[in-house]
Amino acid sequence: MKFMIETMGCQMNENDSEKLVSLLLEHGFDAVKDPQEADILIVNTCSVRKKAEEKFLSYMGRLKYLKKKKNLIIGVVGCIAQLEKENLLRKVPHVDFCLGPSSIHKVIEAIETVKKGQLYLDFSENGEETLCLKPSLTSKKIKAFVTIMKGCNNFCSYCVVPYARGREISRPSLEILNEIEELAKNGVKEVTLLGQNVNSYNKDRNDLSFPQLLEKVNEIPGIERIRFVTSHPKDLSEELIRCFGRLRKLCEHIHLPFQSGSNKILKLMNRGYTKEEYLEKIEMLKEVCPGIAITADCIVGFPGEEDRDFEETMDLLQKVRFHNVFSFAYSPRKFTRALLLPNQVPREKALARLRVLQEEQRKITLEKNKELEGKRVDVLVEGLSKRSSLDLTGRTRTNIVVNFGGPLELIGRTVEVLIVKGYANSVRGANIQHKSKI
Ligand code: SAH
Ligand code: SF4
Ligand code: F3S
Repeated sequence: MKFMIETMGCQMNENDSEKLVSLLLEHGFDAVKDPQEADILIVNTCSVRKKAEEKFLSYMGRLKYLKKKKNLIIGVVGCIAQLEKENLLRKVPHVDFCLGPSSIHKVIEAIETVKKGQLYLDFSENGEETLCLKPSLTSKKIKAFVTIMKGCNNFCSYCVVPYARGREISRPSLEILNEIEELAKNGVKEVTLLGQNVNSYNKDRNDLSFPQLLEKVNEIPGIERIRFVTSHPKDLSEELIRCFGRLRKLCEHIHLPFQSGSNKILKLMNRGYTKEEYLEKIEMLKEVCPGIAITADCIVGFPGEEDRDFEETMDLLQKVRFHNVFSFAYSPRKFTRALLLPNQVPREKALARLRVLQEEQRKITLEKNKELEGKRVDVLVEGLSKRSSLDLTGRTRTNIVVNFGGPLELIGRTVEVLIVKGYANSVRGANIQHKSKI
């Protein structure tokens, strides 16, 4: 039978999809890229903002017609499945099986059950089994994501993730290190350690701490670059910050969502830190690792956000000078506490603030990219550029996209590139001076 997976969520969601691919291939199913060809269509869903939910519903609408035309098994997995459970069937009755993020290891059982003409639903809360599934290793990859923990205990007041992904569980360090060693043997050069809140890794277990884990990954031959996402400012310890100065393979980039620059809003969001504490950590990061690139997420229009709160957010933006900020208008979500807060901000106001913030950040990002002009940087070459097949593309250690001309043999290698021009979303390089360093 042929299957296709449509992934709609974050990196964690994508990683789960790869685990599904791996399970399905192992059991003799074949992957296809066109829904018309598929016998089984799995939608891996996201519920973080209303838009994600709308995208899912409209996609399901289209599948209804496809299902009428042919015998198609439809599975809904991921965060919407977990949050909605049986209720989902009322909205999308043409679904044959549903699995929450902690039940994806049951996909084969689900398909077998559906083939017998029965519905299959599983919304387990225990994530241990899916945590140790391995993503597919079939395609030759240069970069890979490795899940190190799942779930979230933070309960930020706007966020569905703790309800969709359950409590935090850390994966045993031996499993992680074995997976990375295997990846390295298969030619992977860069690993990103993945979790909703990676810096609380093994907080409550007698195993390696997160900095100790990084140290071990740093020793794995073949791996050239290490990254991790996402970090929570309140759990970013001094010991972890020092890793940026100490571990050669750890890239000079951190994604550290701040969400708001106003202490009043941070408190309402239940973030557990103040603007001043956030800035202190940024200072320390810059001190330990000069040139570190900092990116973040932020929300505008949270309930109770007044003009002066938004100004605090803009002030934080100016003070840190992020390389990039992923910014969103607050989206009220079912199950979350922020729904009950007074003083909801009108959507138009939130969108107007978002435009101001994004315009300002665009300028800063462009300036940052221009600062690279004339500099020589190490680029891990990932493949051909999307825009022009004559160009290669890769990233700097600070995670900036570099496009430049060069031979295909460079793919998968680290090369030194001279940056000639900085643009809004990438930089252009030229004149490769040295071939691979390693
Ligand atoms: N675990 C990660 C990612 C969470 S979701 C973390 O803690 O950073 C990614 C981003 O989506 C969040 O950082 C936040 O900025 C945004 N987000 C989450 N819920 C949202 C909501 N209800 N409305 C708008 N943005 C939201
Ligand atoms: Fe959501 Fe907050 Fe957990 Fe991130 S830390 S996943 S924003 S609850
Ligand atoms: Fe979305 Fe779930 Fe990720 S809600 S952002 S797919 S954890």
